[in-house]
Amino acid sequence: MITGTAITKTFRQRGGVLGHREVPALRGVDFAIERGGAVCFIGESGCGKTTLGRIIAGLETCDSGEIVIDGTPMSGLSPRRRRPYFRRVQMIHQDPYSALNPTRTIHQTLRAPLALRARQTGRPKPWIDARAEELLALVGIDPGYVLPRYPHQLSGGMRQRVVIARALTMDPEALVADEAVSMIDVSLRLGILALLRRLREQLGVGVLFITHDIATARYIGDESELYVLYRGQVVEHGPTETVINEPVHPYTQSLLSATPVLHGLERPGPDRIVPTEALDERHGDAGCLFARRCPLATERCERDRPVLGHDPAYPTTQRHACFHPRRRQVIPLAAGA
Ligand SMILES: Nc1ncnc2c1ncn2[C@@H]1O[C@H](COP(=O)(O)OP(=O)(O)O)[C@@H](O)[C@H]1O
Ligand code: SF4
Ligand SMILES: [Mg+2]
Repeated sequence: MITGTAITKTFRQRGGVLGHREVPALRGVDFAIERGGAVCFIGESGCGKTTLGRIIAGLETCDSGEIVIDGTPMSGLSPRRRRPYFRRVQMIHQDPYSALNPTRTIHQTLRAPLALRARQTGRPKPWIDARAEELLALVGIDPGYVLPRYPHQLSGGMRQRVVIARALTMDPEALVADEAVSMIDVSLRLGILALLRRLREQLGVGVLFITHDIATARYIGDESELYVLYRGQVVEHGPTETVINEPVHPYTQSLLSATPVLHGLERPGPDRIVPTEALDERHGDAGCLFARRCPLATERCERDRPVLGHDPAYPTTQRHACFHPRRRQVIPLAAGA
């Protein structure tokens, strides 16, 4: 189990007349990834998804907050003592081509981390090659074909499977899949998503999906948790089915209003939320972070920041950060429409 509590991260960016500006990438994010579980973070570009993934994988540190891996808080450990914990969280990158060294065969690519793993676990040398073959078979590719080849000789889908096999060399407890299917052909995406689902079931590995794409979130579907991230704040969180089918936060509703078909049976009604203006990072930080774009914003929204939670006056399964949650109307589609 991997949990994060109140994770914050602010970047200082150079530029502008003031010399630099502070960009809050994460503003107190909580999450939990169970063994074999699936968690999905969704939000538009720049909302902090990759930063969160990198912090969970130990590639970046947070400014405040706590990551706990298997009951051990990371903040109390030196970087050296943290390393073996973060090795249990492996990142699968967006671009499978740049994630693989073009000058190495797949055999060489898998051999290096497996040799390390063999030393760590006291396994004999022949285990290394046997394990490489086993992992490739596990991700659904023929080891005999792939092992002697270079990345450029493989299809995008195969490369992404090799990247996943390499992540598995470390026997991870969780995989962080950052836009892992957005750069491969639509026709191959479902195969990769099905593979990740199978790995969850077979190996008990947890998967954190990071995506800007509601269709991917929907596919991960049942028994997963969906977190909607907006400008570094989680604005809605609950079971994926609930958040997608009955979103109550205006931002989530706006994300879904771009998708014409919900459930395959209905479409958003006339009360659909369309942001009143484009996202501008210079939007002020007072009040609700969505207020400048929200057609439902009131004076209170401009003044106070809603926190993620339940509203006793408006009971919902999911948590949300909105003063005026509401269910949207949906219009059933006529058969064949
Ligand atoms: N290394 C960095 N230095 C400065 N700013 C950064 C850095 N990484 C990310 N940011 C900023 O933090 C915000 C969140 O970025 P990111 O986590 O990459 O978002 P996403 O993955 O959702 O597109 C953005 O405004 C981005 O410009
Ligand atoms: S708190 Fe107000 S501005 Fe923010 S999403 Fe809800 S209604 Fe819109
Ligand atoms: Mg990103």
